Amino acid sequence: MNLGRHQERYCIIGNPVEHSLSPLIMNYLFHRYGLNAYYYKARVLENELGEAVQTLRGLRVKGFNVTMPHKKAILRYLSDLDDASYIIKAANTVKNVDGRLIGFNTDWVGVKRSLEFHGLNKIENAVIMGAGGAAAAALYALGQMSRGIIYIINRTYENAVGIKHEFRDLRAEIKPLLLSKENLREAIGDASLLINATPVGMGEWKSLVPPEFLKGEIYVMDMVYRPLKTKLLMDAEKAGATTIDGLWMLIIQAAEAFKIWTGIEPDILDLRRLVEANING
Ligand SMILES: NC(=O)c1ccc[n+]([C@@H]2O[C@H](COP(=O)([O-])OP(=O)(O)OC[C@H]3O[C@@H](n4cnc5c(N)ncnc54)[C@H](OP(=O)(O)O)[C@@H]3O)[C@@H](O)[C@H]2O)c1
Repeated sequence: MNLGRHQERYCIIGNPVEHSLSPLIMNYLFHRYGLNAYYYKARVLENELGEAVQTLRGLRVKGFNVTMPHKKAILRYLSDLDDASYIIKAANTVKNVDGRLIGFNTDWVGVKRSLEFHGLNKIENAVIMGAGGAAAAALYALGQMSRGIIYIINRTYENAVGIKHEFRDLRAEIKPLLLSKENLREAIGDASLLINATPVGMGEWKSLVPPEFLKGEIYVMDMVYRPLKTKLLMDAEKAGATTIDGLWMLIIQAAEAFKIWTGIEPDILDLRRLVEANING
């Protein structure tokens, strides 16, 4: 590790961060584009966030990523927010501009470009499962791509209603629903896109969606990327649907953060090869 005086510092803060793929991606990109910079990871507990931000300021880090559980809590420590992080009420990227910490949300870019990358530029009706930060990022993205109905299906109905109120200016109509088989069947039957924005399927062979609800004419995106092919995506593939795994979103949100910091737009397919080789090997 080169801690040279002129080396620029970046990092990710969160808990857990041990298995984060961000250091791999960012350090690869710094090397690839010949930048004298290094990206660290720092485990930060919930009650340590304020102190951690002070430390990062003191170290004059140029930028940092924020992951669970700090994406919402970080907002109060920032000098300014981009439109997306203001509306989504969560930031995952911070840029240090002469001591002013500016917050950005690049998760929504990860959703939008993942869909575009797979040929989906306009959407009629869509279903988002979940009503947390990742669902809010998906809703922000779909708000720019759909004028139809966006169903928010969630285990806690009140949280689905809450997200609808936060996004009341959207052109699309938001319909909050309680997570149930009946609601899933009806909403999926009416939609051309289904997004899983819950952790269900992460490290487990489970899916919220009965396989018989899936059909060939739908796009299915899972934000979970461990395993890369979740049960939901496997069932969708068997039904003939177009599937989009969570690694696309991860890579694209990271590429967007890199661009915010450096002005350089990385090659997404190059990053995909890098990360796939590392998670498989
Ligand atoms: N691929 C990527 O780049 C990327 C980026 C961001 C997030 N993600 C992933 O997206 C997922 C959600 O992240 P988040 O930040 O939105 O988390 P979050 O804010 O904690 O929200 C989690 C959501 O999932 C629901 N949920 C949790 N466990 C559930 C279960 N067993 N059954 C049904 N619903 C359940 C919660 O429902 P309640 O409201 O009832 O609690 C909530 O709506 C995580 O797996 C995360 O790793 C991936």
